[in-house]
Amino acid sequence: MTSPPSTEQFLRTFHDHHPGKQSESIRDVLTPGGRTAYETFADHVGSAERVLDLGCADGELLSIFAARGAHRLAGIDLSLNELAFARRRPELANAELRLGRAQELPWDAGAFDAVVSHMAFMVMSDPEAVAAEAARVLAPGGRFAVAVGSGGAEAGDAIELFRSLAVPLFRAARAKGLLPKFGDRRPRTREGLDEILGPAGFAPMAWERITIRHRGTPARVWQDNVATFYEMSSVPADEVARLRERFLAEAEKLAVDGVVPWAMGIDVATTRLVGAGA
Ligand SMILES: C[S@@+](CC[C@H](N)C(=O)[O-])C[C@H]1O[C@@H](n2cnc3c(N)ncnc32)[C@H](O)[C@@H]1O
Repeated sequence: MTSPPSTEQFLRTFHDHHPGKQSESIRDVLTPGGRTAYETFADHVGSAERVLDLGCADGELLSIFAARGAHRLAGIDLSLNELAFARRRPELANAELRLGRAQELPWDAGAFDAVVSHMAFMVMSDPEAVAAEAARVLAPGGRFAVAVGSGGAEAGDAIELFRSLAVPLFRAARAKGLLPKFGDRRPRTREGLDEILGPAGFAPMAWERITIRHRGTPARVWQDNVATFYEMSSVPADEVARLRERFLAEAEKLAVDGVVPWAMGIDVATTRLVGAGA
């Protein structure tokens, strides 16, 4: 077994190879209210003049805050190619987009009213350091909000099918030392988030699960999974080809009029800075 790559090196390489793909696969997927996960998440944050996005990638979420009138927009990400996509968005022409780590933020104390992180805080190493930095750059009473994935939301749908076929391959890749650890369990639970954020000066989290639903062709669901499951990049090409064949054949059986249902749960956690931090 070789030693696994560092989490940040793995994430940087993956996102440099798949820039813009994460938001492309989530953007078309809607909540029952007909809104994207990004819009629903932004609704939970509410209006904010100065917003920082941790793990901003191609700037999809920052664009929504731009449209809602935020004056100061900032984002940080490990991937240069994701940031290049964000820089092409006209609405982000004045945004401060930085290549770097959320554990070491290049902004002054008290610079933001809201610090947000959509599907990114949960994979960050040393979340305590990220929490301490978020607390430092927030103004007193500022909001901190994270969206974390909670996996497939409905039994018998295309995501469950994909997982049942792919997880043994992911386990094998992990056993060979090809995969790092993507965060720990704590940022994916309410208690765990409170344990990380409380010492940095944040109040207990408010927590809500949103379900997003998609009806795509089996080929589209396959493409989205390849772009969003980090583990896929460590599966050998011949096994990916076999997995694809099996997935498409099985997904056809779930299809109605050529499309298969799939649903994903996203937990949205929000809090405010109430103390001076650790
Ligand atoms: C799953 S993607 C989510 C991207 C984006 N927030 C979205 O929802 O479309 C996670 C992102 O977090 C970034 N990331 C992970 N760890 C990071 C860290 N320590 N500092 C900054 N960015 C990080 C990755 O490079 C990647 O772009």
